[in-house]
Amino acid sequence: MIGDRARIRVELPATDPVSGDLRPGVGLVTIDRPEVLNALDRRTVDELVGALEALDAEPDCRCIVLTGAGERAFVAGADIGEMADHTAVSMRADGPFAAWDRITAVATPMVAAVRGFALGGGFELALACDMVVAADDATFGQPEIKLGIIPGLGGTQRLARTIGKARAMELILTGRRLPAAEAFTMGLVSRLVPAAETVPAALGLAAEIAAAPPVAVAAAVRAIDDAFEGPLAEGMAAERAAFYELFDTDDQKEGMRAFRDKRRPTWQGR
Ligand code: COA
Repeated sequence: MIGDRARIRVELPATDPVSGDLRPGVGLVTIDRPEVLNALDRRTVDELVGALEALDAEPDCRCIVLTGAGERAFVAGADIGEMADHTAVSMRADGPFAAWDRITAVATPMVAAVRGFALGGGFELALACDMVVAADDATFGQPEIKLGIIPGLGGTQRLARTIGKARAMELILTGRRLPAAEAFTMGLVSRLVPAAETVPAALGLAAEIAAAPPVAVAAAVRAIDDAFEGPLAEGMAAERAAFYELFDTDDQKEGMRAFRDKRRPTWQGR
């Protein structure tokens, strides 16, 4: 059952570039650095990890929507100013990926709500979410090649696995921008909506997921992730194991009985 408590704010100082709050069942995290089109500097990534982990730890939060403030950008990439003078040694020592690994470890399903630019790390952040709802004015791209680098937050891996080698190669080697409609056709975006409806549509999708039986949702997310992260045989084995285990949950009994009784199921999350 979805929690019906009042909205709570995830505690962050007022000046922070990331805000988070929890409505019934659904968390909303907003990246807000308008002066740089929501580019991600180290502090913003740390705040983002903090907000996502706080929501992930909240039992009432069953799905998280992640978005960028304003109309111009979801996230225009990693903060170029912060990276410009790094060497390989200093970049390694800085260890930017530890925080990113924590983002991908968030177990609660995440929906990216993308308006405007989702470039570089912004595109990769959207790809790291479980689903992407995009505005018809959204633009995706991996422009790193134009800066003399390559994507470093999973872009080469997730794009190649999602849209295939040839299309990933073209996008990454040219850095060309991908309009939302094309991203939708390629399967990178699950819903394409008029710009003003982006966050409401993502919240609506998240509410639908929040109302689903939580143990089965978690099992489905893990099994689908396995399809991307391991060989097929391992993914099939994990899917089967989760399938069997779900027959030991109250939600499976309730879901099937409710269907038989022609009534709405009440999920217990166990
Ligand atoms: N890092 C740091 N600052 C960034 C940024 C980033 N990734 N993306 C945009 N900004 C800053 C710009 O420097 C500019 O700051 P200024 O007003 O102090 O000059 C401000 O955001 C607005 O951007 P601007 O370039 O003026 O807007 P635009 O509409 O002309 O272009 C973009 C928008 C997104 C196409 C352009 O800013 C861009 O190409 N950004 C870099 C994208 C990128 O390469 N990302 C991958 C990084 S690895």
